[in-house]
Amino acid sequence: MHHILIIDDDESVRDVLEAFFKEKGFNVTAAADGQSGLDLLKQEKFDLFFVDLVMPGMGGLDVLREASALHINTPAIVITAFGTVKTAIEAMRLGAFDYITKPFILEELLIVVNRSLDVSKLQKENVMLKRQLKQKYDFHRLTGNSPQMQKVYELIEKIADTDSTVLIYGESGTGKELVAKTIHFNSSRAQNPFVPMNCAAIPKDLLESELFGHEKGAFTGAINTRIGRFELANGGTILLDEIGDLHPSLQVKLLRVLQEREFERVGSTKTIKVDVRILAATNKDLEKATREGTFREDLYYRLNVIPLHIPPLRKRREDIPVLIEDFMNNFSKKKKKEPLKILPEALECLMNYRWPGNVRELENLIERMVILNDGGIVTADDLPERFHSTRGGQIHKSLPLTSSGVMLLPQEGVDLNAMLNEIEKSLILQAMERVGGVKSKAAGILGLNRTTLIEKLKKKGIDVQSPETTQQHNQ
Ligand SMILES: Nc1ncnc2c1ncn2[C@@H]1O[C@H](COP(=O)(O)OP(=O)(O)OP(=O)(O)O)[C@@H](O)[C@H]1O
Ligand SMILES: [Mg+2]
Repeated sequence: MHHILIIDDDESVRDVLEAFFKEKGFNVTAAADGQSGLDLLKQEKFDLFFVDLVMPGMGGLDVLREASALHINTPAIVITAFGTVKTAIEAMRLGAFDYITKPFILEELLIVVNRSLDVSKLQKENVMLKRQLKQKYDFHRLTGNSPQMQKVYELIEKIADTDSTVLIYGESGTGKELVAKTIHFNSSRAQNPFVPMNCAAIPKDLLESELFGHEKGAFTGAINTRIGRFELANGGTILLDEIGDLHPSLQVKLLRVLQEREFERVGSTKTIKVDVRILAATNKDLEKATREGTFREDLYYRLNVIPLHIPPLRKRREDIPVLIEDFMNNFSKKKKKEPLKILPEALECLMNYRWPGNVRELENLIERMVILNDGGIVTADDLPERFHSTRGGQIHKSLPLTSSGVMLLPQEGVDLNAMLNEIEKSLILQAMERVGGVKSKAAGILGLNRTTLIEKLKKKGIDVQSPETTQQHNQ
């Protein structure tokens, strides 16, 4: 059954419309002024509403304006007195679907209403189609096929279209915001706003008003009433980023929003209800923070409904080449340049690097290379200094040895994959040198078959001279 809201200060109009539409099988609610009509629109889902243009207090145009600011996309039909058609057109500009002039013929109303409901149904279908496209698009944005990332995708798929709170963990630059967006754009809230909010970037005094809004005059500087992020996100999703840095006084307030989905603007006592899906992100160990008393335990449990961990890039090195290729293509297209070719030696440095800044660091590096590199080819020497320590076997050479020659695991640990790579490369190079570059012989003393050795040489970018020339050198 379709649900209609009637906002009109004229009781007789309300009564007539209510009786008529009820008789036609609609579910009808009526409001006697603009503000209470708007409050109803915020709280409930209507298929359509009528609003009178001229009402004492909040008029019809204000209702339309506020509704559109709150991303309420319920179709509106404006009721105007004869002779105010100009204002009605203004109302259409503000998003009203149609208008009717008083006095009206009831049967005509029914036509207008049905037409509006049909169009709105089409629009919804269109949004759905767009959403499906978006889904594909957004899953593409997340690059990486490592088993760890596949687990992330599986979880996203399971939880996206629920209203559950998700707590996204990950070091800086691992893609927390991108994952949050992917969740939002794959939910039925996709056509409503995604509102990110960095809890660490805004001073505590301003943060409350930023989150919940404020009334005019609530504090010095509050010249106008302002809508907070929670109201902006109504119908959609809010991302509370760096939640671990949220000041304790705001932790209490947030807890209430999580529990009740309601709050008050600063300087107001009026409770506002919102329908917002909450995602939070952090690079801190929140559980530890609760033990240390800097983060409320009750809030932690409310947020940690579904934990989603994004592993650091160094724990999923096989994603590095695909990410490079992606970024390379994107930036080259953007800067209208040919994609660069990365030599295996350079790729190896990139694969072995620790990536403290994770995917963001990689993205920035590729952007810089695309802009600065003119030769079209990236060698290891083109990479910034910090990448060179992973070259030429320095990793294992720098490890201390015991008197019996056993490597000691240093206090800070090691990067085992990178180390094994280095050791492998160094032994292959030594073997090749010893046998004068004859691959079958080198393979023999390494206990590999020839094709495996050739593969490894290629992968490691070891430049192989032909045996003949090498042998000549040796003679
Ligand atoms: N898997 C991925 N595929 C493609 N791009 C990615 C991926 N992960 C991250 N990025 C890109 O890396 C950059 C950093 O990602 P994002 O801002 O989501 O990270 P973050 O974890 O929120 O970082 P911070 O902790 O610093 O806020 C963005 O430009 C994002 O598009
Ligand atoms: Mg972020």
